[in-house]
Amino acid sequence: MMKITAPDLHCGMGRLQKSLIPFLGLVLAFCFYSARENFKPEMLKGKRVIVTGASTGIGEQMAYHLARMGSHILVTARTEAKLQKVVERCLKLGAASAQLVSGSMEDMAFAEHVVKEAENLMGGLDMLILNHIGKSYFSYFDGDVGHVQKLLQINFLSYVAMTVSALPMLKESGGSIVVVSSMAGKVGFPFTVPYSATKFALDGFFSSLRQEFSIQSVNVSITLCVLGFINTESAMKAAADVVLMSPAPKEECALEIIKGGALRQREVYYKYASTKIPLLIRDWAAEFLDYLVRKRYNVENLKKN
Ligand SMILES: NC(=O)c1ccc[n+]([C@@H]2O[C@H](COP(=O)([O-])OP(=O)(O)OC[C@H]3O[C@@H](n4cnc5c(N)ncnc54)[C@H](OP(=O)(O)O)[C@@H]3O)[C@@H](O)[C@H]2O)c1
Repeated sequence: MMKITAPDLHCGMGRLQKSLIPFLGLVLAFCFYSARENFKPEMLKGKRVIVTGASTGIGEQMAYHLARMGSHILVTARTEAKLQKVVERCLKLGAASAQLVSGSMEDMAFAEHVVKEAENLMGGLDMLILNHIGKSYFSYFDGDVGHVQKLLQINFLSYVAMTVSALPMLKESGGSIVVVSSMAGKVGFPFTVPYSATKFALDGFFSSLRQEFSIQSVNVSITLCVLGFINTESAMKAAADVVLMSPAPKEECALEIIKGGALRQREVYYKYASTKIPLLIRDWAAEFLDYLVRKRYNVENLKKN
């Protein structure tokens, strides 16, 4: 048996200290670097912003926050009457300007048209907030490939089309792309298979594009927002009886997304604890996380849907 002597122990501790101190230094430097800038509402004053899916839910709330901050806002969704009300409220809240374009993101020509309208109406673009989602079901995957294709078009391809059209303006302004995603775009969730697929696709596309921007020194930030359960009307209607979690408020969620975009953060987690912690577990104990996810559903109630 090998004997460990006091000098051996001392030497081991010394080595540990030697490696621990630089490591702690790196952690502190990282914390300092990450917290280098604080959010100020003035950051959005006079900025030209597109918000998609802004007729209701989180998108609508983002439009109101931006209005209070004095941005120029272009909102889009399908329902013109709802958008008209959002525009009126934005103007009352202090928006530098507020306009709308209505149409469906199922049509890539419409996605490109929205960006063109931003150029015509606002003379450029500082922030592109991609937030809309097409209607899907909350139940077991029904095998409908056509629905997956349609949802990919609305939730993913239109995001790509808008990004491509907006890039020249965003490069000119050193602007930002904000992509609203979900925990269902990071971890496999049951009952939202087509939706989840579209959100994973967003991560693949935009995280890869961010790498290319970095290599090519393109000064356009990409912020991917990983959201948990939020109390929008559509989410509550679809999942409130089945998901055993209390939803977070859409108003606060909308503000956190805007802050993350303005600070050019890589990713936003909202709410932080209920999204970031499961993601830390994901890579080390994937099956345990899968189990925890499944435990969060009342499947009995799903059958009544
Ligand atoms: N709420 C949650 O629990 C939750 C959780 C995680 C992530 N998220 C993400 O947060 C974002 C907003 O969610 P939300 O709950 O606020 O959604 P929502 O209330 O259902 O709003 C969806 C928006 O998209 C628009 N839209 C629907 N179909 C469209 C189409 N074909 N073309 C263009 N626009 C269309 C809707 O307006 P029209 O019907 O007028 O077109 C509406 O403005 C989404 O990206 C979602 O994935 C939400």
